[in-house]
Amino acid sequence: MIKVGLLGYGTVGGGVYNILTTKKEDIERKLGEKIQIKKILVKEKYKKRKYDVDDSLLTEDYKEIVEDPQIQIVVELIGGETPTLSYIKEAINGHKNIVTANKLILAKYGRELFQLAKNNNVKVYYEGSVGGGIPIIKTLKESMIANKIERVYGILNGTTNYILTKMTEKSIDFEEALKEAQNLGYAESDPYFDVSGLDSAYKINILSSLAFESFMDVDSIHVEGIEKIEREDIEIAEELGYTIKLLAIGKRYEDKMLDIRVHPTFIPKSSPLSKINGVYNVVQIHGDAVGDIMIYGQGAGEMPTASAVVADIMEAAKSIKYHIENEYSTGRLNGLKLIETDE
Ligand code: NDP
Ligand code: HSE
Repeated sequence: MIKVGLLGYGTVGGGVYNILTTKKEDIERKLGEKIQIKKILVKEKYKKRKYDVDDSLLTEDYKEIVEDPQIQIVVELIGGETPTLSYIKEAINGHKNIVTANKLILAKYGRELFQLAKNNNVKVYYEGSVGGGIPIIKTLKESMIANKIERVYGILNGTTNYILTKMTEKSIDFEEALKEAQNLGYAESDPYFDVSGLDSAYKINILSSLAFESFMDVDSIHVEGIEKIEREDIEIAEELGYTIKLLAIGKRYEDKMLDIRVHPTFIPKSSPLSKINGVYNVVQIHGDAVGDIMIYGQGAGEMPTASAVVADIMEAAKSIKYHIENEYSTGRLNGLKLIETDE
C-alpha cells in the first residue's frame, strides 16, 4: 500500500479525494497496488466540505504529513508561495515524492526544486500545473522528445477565457463573469493572478522550459492581462472578423533567441483558436519532425484538474512500487533462483 498526504482540500484537493475514493478498485486494478490517503492538511479543520471526510483524516499541522515516515507521496494543492514552498522543500528533504498543480512555485522555483528532488532521489510531478486536465506536460516531455520545438502557444487560463467568452456572447459583463468563474472553482484564490495574465505567464514559462530546454526568469516575460478590455473592444473585433483571446506564446528564433509573452490578441474567426471557448484551454506546438499539433480540453476546474493530479499520483506510485519490488527481489533472492515445487 502506498500512503499519500494531501496538502489542501479545496477545489482540486476535493476532486482528487473524490477520484481516489470512488475509483479505488479501478485504480488498484490498474496499478496492482492500493493507494491510501493518510492525512489531509487544511487551514480550518472544522469547516463544511463538499466531500465529507472523517475528522481524524484532517489536520492543521503540516508536520503530520511531511514528517510521517509512512507517507511516500505528498500532493501539494494549497497554491501560492507561502507557506507552500517551505512545505514542499521539507517534504523533498524527507525523501517524499511531490505531486503539485502549483504553477507559480514551478515557474519561480522549479529549477531549485528539481535539483533538490534529484539530490534526495525523489521526483516532482506537475501535470496539473498547466492546462488543467490537458495532458500537455507529458506530451512535451515524452511524446515529443524526438522533436526540436520551434513554438508552443495557446490559451492557458480558463478563468480569462471564460470571462472573454461570456463578454463576447454579451450575456454578462466582466465582474459577473469573473464571479461565475470563481463559483465554478476556476479562478485562483486571488483572481488577480488570472486577470493580470500572470497565471498564463507561469504556465508558458513551464511549457517553454520544457520545449526549449532552458529555464528562464519568469519576471523577464512580457505580460498583459485582460483588465483593460471592454465590451467595445470585443464588439470592434467582432465587426472586423476577429475574436479577442488571451494568448501565451513561446517562440524560438534561429537558435539564438526566445520570445516569451502573454497578451490579449486578435484571433481571426477562421482560426481554430477562436473557437476555444469558456473554460477550455488549447496548446499548439510545432515540432520539426511531427509538424503542428493542437491539444485542447478543460483547462481548470475540480474534476479535469484532479484527473491530471491523480494520473501523477499513480505514476509516482508506480515508480515507487517497481523500485521497491526490484530492491526487494534482488535483496531477498540475492541473485539465486527459486527451486520450483509442485505445492
Ligand atoms: P482552493 O483555494 O480551493 O484550496 C486551497 C486549500 O488549501 C484549502 O483546502 C485550504 O484550506 C488549504 N490552505 C490554504 N492555505 C493554507 C495554509 N496556510 N495551510 C494549510 N492549508 C491551507 O485552491 P484550488 O484547489 O483551486 O487550487 C489548488 C492549487 O491547484 C493551486 O496551486 C492552483 O493554482 C492549482 N490549480 C487549480 C485549478 C483550479 O481549477 N482550481 C486548476 C489547476 C491548478 P481550507 O479548506 O481549510 O480553507
Ligand atoms: N485559475 C486557473 C485558470 C486554474 O483559470 O486557468 C487552472 O490552472
